[in-house]
Amino acid sequence: MACLTFVECSDRVTDVIPQAQRFGRAAEVVLDRALDRSVIGGFSNIGYAVRSRLPHWPADPSPEALAGATAVVTGASSGLGEQTASDLAALGAEVHLVVRDESKGNSVRKKLQARHPKARFHVWRCDLSDLNDVWTLGERMGSSLTSVDVLIHNAGALPAKRTESAQGHELTMALHVLGPVALTEALLPRLRGSLREPRVIFITSGGMYTQALHLDDLEYTQGKYSGATAYARSKRAQVELLETFSRAWAPVRVYATHPGWADTPGVQDSLPAFRAATKPILRDAAAGADTTVWLSAVQPAPRTATLWHDRHSRPTHMLPTTPASRADRARLWLWVRQQLQK
Ligand SMILES: NC(=O)c1ccc[n+]([C@@H]2O[C@H](COP(=O)([O-])OP(=O)(O)OC[C@H]3O[C@@H](n4cnc5c(N)ncnc54)[C@H](OP(=O)(O)O)[C@@H]3O)[C@@H](O)[C@H]2O)c1
Repeated sequence: MACLTFVECSDRVTDVIPQAQRFGRAAEVVLDRALDRSVIGGFSNIGYAVRSRLPHWPADPSPEALAGATAVVTGASSGLGEQTASDLAALGAEVHLVVRDESKGNSVRKKLQARHPKARFHVWRCDLSDLNDVWTLGERMGSSLTSVDVLIHNAGALPAKRTESAQGHELTMALHVLGPVALTEALLPRLRGSLREPRVIFITSGGMYTQALHLDDLEYTQGKYSGATAYARSKRAQVELLETFSRAWAPVRVYATHPGWADTPGVQDSLPAFRAATKPILRDAAAGADTTVWLSAVQPAPRTATLWHDRHSRPTHMLPTTPASRADRARLWLWVRQQLQK
């Protein structure tokens, strides 16, 4: 399929939907996998537009699916986190917005409250890369909430240069791995106290497909630092630890979702050239957050320790160079545990 422009390509892929519908489930699976493996097709708005119109697209949760549920969303002051908070509230959840800038968090809360007058929102300030801040937040939330049904680790950053957290950890490992593990463990009694299958969801990135674990240099102290590589390695670490998390935090269900490519302030600020080149095919935030919201609410909760994108579980590797062994994952977990010792 030779396409001259993104828009033309999008039109041509959309043209094959009726054929996939006619040839049934097998054709859908082939189309879905082709989109995934092409990367550009699957990660862009083309992938979402096509998949969400196929007959086997999983049904939306019921409109009241999260009535009475408590959800915690980190990085809720912007982009996908704000959208996720809004969509969880639309399904009936009481939503706790974890933000690093309280005034920004309060403006988002006002906006969300106006959109969902019946919903309840709360703002909590925390720098999720700072373990002391995370432990303090965990204690405050733990003593204020009786249960947590959904915890979404959405906060993320792609630093332009190597940056260290308050405890001296490389920022992406601190923000994407250490902080989320510390917060989950602080809230574990509240998650385990949930009466509905409790869930923890890590928002990872398709960028992790390009990277293996770098166990000998987890904090990127060697070689020329690349923020994109550090980001992808830390997102890889999230995915490699899914099974370990799932065992350690049972019966809590643990998932990762990757949003594809969505047009958010994060992409605008951190990847301006990428955004300029791909703008016509970037997803909107709703499509980027869709699978996270669906996974938060769908009943029964799918098999734990899985990676999701566009409402289907996905392979965790696309390249032969990236798989980690069981021993590698055990080493990574040991390292995480050591960093979390108070
Ligand atoms: N957009 C995409 O195409 C895409 C693709 C793959 C993965 N993702 C992932 O999706 C998640 C959301 O990204 P986004 O695109 O919505 O980006 P975004 O608009 O920049 O949102 C990131 C959020 O994380 C918060 N945050 C950053 N550092 C923090 C810290 N130290 N402590 C607490 N909060 C912090 C930000 O707070 P401020 O508002 O104060 O900056 C913001 O609310 C990230 O994990 C990202 O890696 C996005």
